[in-house]
Amino acid sequence: MSRPTTVTPEPATRLIVALDFAEADAALAFARQLDPAQCALKVGFELFVVAGPALLQRLHDLGFRVFLDLKFHDIPNTVAAACRAAARTGVWLINVHASGGLEMMRAAHEAVRETNDTTSLLAVTVLTSSDAGTLREIGVSREPADQVGLLGELAIQKAGLEGLVCSAQEAAMLRRRLGERPLLVTPGIRLEDSGGDDQKRVMTPERALEAGASAIVVGRPITRAPDPAAAMEAFVTRLNMPNDAVE
Ligand code: C5P
Repeated sequence: MSRPTTVTPEPATRLIVALDFAEADAALAFARQLDPAQCALKVGFELFVVAGPALLQRLHDLGFRVFLDLKFHDIPNTVAAACRAAARTGVWLINVHASGGLEMMRAAHEAVRETNDTTSLLAVTVLTSSDAGTLREIGVSREPADQVGLLGELAIQKAGLEGLVCSAQEAAMLRRRLGERPLLVTPGIRLEDSGGDDQKRVMTPERALEAGASAIVVGRPITRAPDPAAAMEAFVTRLNMPNDAVE
């Protein structure tokens, strides 16, 4: 069973703030300054390794939807078990690597669907840190964009997953190939003046939505801003502008 998703979900899930903190206390203190009506939160490897499911529970208690970004990739049975355990925590989004293959993704999806009908499963196609050279090193001769398209079709059309994590540069191509259903979650987003940090290919929030992103992930431009509340406000305003207000 695959659930329909909307291309542009409600405002509270259009912006996902990456809580990339090294400890639970710092993450919670930051989360308390945010409004669950304006954003969801992403918990990645480092924070989950130090703080675990207890932190997810605290974030849920504060009213946030949570994207647990652990990018599982292992044999089908192991990934299915991990996804079942993740779905039991009540998180909104979890993810696997599409390069784990069709059988792995189907097993993961079935485990999520059996466990929690409010959890959606996303696939990572090609990491944005990989280029043609990185793919060649692991025996993939296709261009990165073609590999993204191939893995996107495998994840959405064949395995029935709810969406993909992808770069905003790939969103338009993926929308053309996959239609309106999949959630496309895109990191690497910056306002014009905020610098790219270590992100190589960045895009503004409006351009990402125009290209077909359902939700954007923003970390340091909000979490490391001198005035995080003002930075939040800037992203929320820009994401909720009508399309014709975008130059
Ligand atoms: O601070 P910044 O906005 O660059 O954070 C982006 C977040 O999205 C980080 O948590 C990073 O791990 C994650 N991410 C990414 N690029 C991807 C996938 C995930 O930056 N391709």
